[in-house]
Amino acid sequence: MATGDLIRELFSSYKQGDDEQFRAVAHKIIVEERNKNHNLLARDLERIIEQSTPKTLHRASPNWQKLPTDRESGVSLVDIKESTKSMRDIVLDENLNTQIELIIKEYRYRERLYSYGLSPKRKLLFAGLPGTGKTLLCEVLATELNLPILYTRFDSVVSSYLGETAANLRKIFDFASKGKWIVFFDEFDAIGKSREDQYEHGELKRVVNTFLQLLDNFESESLFVAATNHENLLDRALWRRFDDILFFSLPDKNAIISLIKLKLRNLPHSVEYKKYASELSGWSQSDIELACIDAVKRSILEDSDEVTDTIFESAVRYHQRRMEVIAKTVSNQQTDE
Ligand SMILES: Nc1ncnc2c1ncn2[C@@H]1O[C@H](COP(=O)(O)OP(=O)(O)O)[C@@H](O)[C@H]1O
Ligand SMILES: [Mg+2]
Repeated sequence: MATGDLIRELFSSYKQGDDEQFRAVAHKIIVEERNKNHNLLARDLERIIEQSTPKTLHRASPNWQKLPTDRESGVSLVDIKESTKSMRDIVLDENLNTQIELIIKEYRYRERLYSYGLSPKRKLLFAGLPGTGKTLLCEVLATELNLPILYTRFDSVVSSYLGETAANLRKIFDFASKGKWIVFFDEFDAIGKSREDQYEHGELKRVVNTFLQLLDNFESESLFVAATNHENLLDRALWRRFDDILFFSLPDKNAIISLIKLKLRNLPHSVEYKKYASELSGWSQSDIELACIDAVKRSILEDSDEVTDTIFESAVRYHQRRMEVIAKTVSNQQTDE
C-alpha cells in the first residue's frame, strides 16, 4: 500500500479512537520503512509504539457485558477479573523467573517479532502442586501486560448434559476471540484428563478433541494460560499444543526466607528467618503465607509493635498442627475408599 494511504488510515484510526487499528497501521508503516531499508526510522517508530501502553485498549470491547452462559443452568461460563498483583508480590525460582521475563518481553515487543514473521509465546501451561503460585503468576502476568483476565470456571463449563461441555468451550473461545485478555483456564485437568484414561467415557474424549481444535485455531492477540495441579493426568497431545510449560515447585530455603520477608513486609519484624528455612521445608508457598498472615494478625491483636520471633513461632506451630490434621484426614479417606 502507498505510504499516503497508510498515513490516511493512521489518522482515521486515531480519530475513531481505535487503538487496535492504530497499532496495526503503525505496524504496516514500520514494515514498509524497513523494506525500503530505512532501518533507523523503522527502529525508532517501533520503539515509540512499544513504549506506549494502551490503557484503554481491551476495555473497548463491545461484548464486555454479554458473558457467555451455560444453556441449561444459565450460569456464566467466565468471569472478568482485573489484577493488581505485580512482580513485587511474588517469589519465583530462577527458572520460572527467566521463563516469565521472556514471556513478558516477547509479548510487549511482539510487534517487533511480527515484523520478522515471528510471534510471541501465547499458549502457556502452568503445572505444579496446589498453593505454589499458578493463579498468582497469572494475575502478575495480567498486570505486567495490562490485560484483564478472562477467568474460566470449570464447574460451570463441564455440563452433565451430553454435548453441552463442548458447546460451552466453543462459546468461551468465541467470546475470548472478541477481546484481548489473558484467557485463564484454571483447574484445567478437569478437561485435559488423559484420553487414554480407561475410566473416562467417550464424552470426555470428544471434549478434549474439541478443546485441541479450539486451541489450535485460537489466533487472537490474547495470551492463553491453562493451570493444572495434576500434570500427570494430562494428555500427551495437549502438552505439544503449548508454546511453553512452566513448572511450579515447593520453595527451597532461599525462597522460604524471601516469602517470609515478603509476607511480613507491612509490619516491622524480628524473625530468625534462617531457623525457618529448614523447618518449613515441604510447605507450599500458600502454607507459608497462611502462617505469616496469622503471625501478623496475632501481633496486631496482642498490641505488639512488631512480629517477634515468638509470635511467628507460635503461628508456625499452629499451622503445623492444622496441616498434620488435614494430612491424617486425607490419608484416612484414601484408605476408606
Ligand atoms: N510464589 C509465590 N509468591 C508469593 N505468594 C505466593 C506464591 N505462591 C503462592 N502464593 C500465595 O499462596 C496463595 C495460593 O496461591 P495460588 O496462586 O492460588 O496457588 P495455585 O494456583 O498454584 O494453587 C495465594 O494467596 C498467593 O498469594
Ligand atoms: Mg490456583
